[in-house]
Amino acid sequence: MTARPAKALICLASMVFAWTFLAVLAARPLEAQAKNPFSGNAKMAKLGEYEFRANCAFCHGLGARGGGRGPDLTRTPKKHGDSDQEIFTTISNGVPGTAMPPNGATQQGVGMTEEEIWQVITYIRSVEHKPVEMTGDSVRGRQLFFGSAACSTCHMFKGQGGRLGPDLTSAGTARSLDYLTDSIRNPSRRLAQGLGEAMKEFTVEYETVNVVTADGTKLQGTLLNEDSFTIQFLDTREQLHSFDKAALKSWEKTRASLMPVYDEKALPEKDLQDILTFLVKRLRAPGGAQ
Ligand code: HEC
Ligand code: HEC
Repeated sequence: MTARPAKALICLASMVFAWTFLAVLAARPLEAQAKNPFSGNAKMAKLGEYEFRANCAFCHGLGARGGGRGPDLTRTPKKHGDSDQEIFTTISNGVPGTAMPPNGATQQGVGMTEEEIWQVITYIRSVEHKPVEMTGDSVRGRQLFFGSAACSTCHMFKGQGGRLGPDLTSAGTARSLDYLTDSIRNPSRRLAQGLGEAMKEFTVEYETVNVVTADGTKLQGTLLNEDSFTIQFLDTREQLHSFDKAALKSWEKTRASLMPVYDEKALPEKDLQDILTFLVKRLRAPGGAQ
């Protein structure tokens, strides 16, 4: 008769014990050792590369050089802290409010073990390079950006500028210099996905829309949204439009960027270097007057 409650108690106690044990296990990665145990170990870096391809390259690109959704991880120093411990924490916890998921939240579901995270960090370290020496004139670059090069008519930088193209506030640290240069010299080669909109379930590329309305008005802009029946876009004067497709004379989406090609004639090499220096340096010293 008395055996029952006792059994229930033991059962409860063991459950509590199991939960505590699990909770301790779950909390463990946060108290990970501060130094990477595999530092400089080429074999571990290779294993890390394999895991990186499976779990991270989707966003951070092959070779960790950045992709549509994730920043270039070969850059140093890292925005969220550059020590082994800090990078470990970033990978374990993710970056709340962005597309960077906590460990275990990726499609794989299971998550990486502590050892595997250190392997991935060993890999990231092996492809990192020193901060690039930016030799341009960032003050002049800023003037060009907001002035004669007209970048700010379409791009926002720290809350100032247009909305037709992606916000470039973090482009200078998130994107590789090759990527940035290519985006400016050959805009249509690879359409931006917009880092700032990482929270959207589906990332939308900045596709161009050409529309002719029923009364013959021609409009061009950046696609915002589309379903079977309607299309929404921001035209080149930043007016928002929503049309029933059936009511339009014609409409098309194209992968030709709305951004003009800035070749050497439109933007000489020196001007390009100044603008790139502005984009990179402005972020290294947030709030700094440049
Ligand atoms: C769904 C896309 C996505 C996936 C998958 C992803 N990341 Fe990220 N990651 C991001 C984004 C976006 C950021 C930038 C967050 C921000 O705005 O600061 C980021 C930031 C980071 C940072 C910080 C960079 C810095 O400068 O501080 C590290 C390190 C990182 N990711 C490593 C990884 C690793 C390792 C994996 C795989 C285990 C991974 N990420 C998987 C999107 C992703
Ligand atoms: C007429 C509007 C317009 C102007 C002017 C313009 N851009 Fe763009 N830009 C866009 C649009 C739209 C995109 C997104 C499509 C694409 O990737 O080309 C874009 C994309 C970019 C990207 C890629 C961002 C990413 O995260 O992938 C960079 C970098 C960029 N522009 C830099 C510049 C710079 C620097 C200037 C001035 C020299 C400039 N743009 C002028 C419209 C413009």
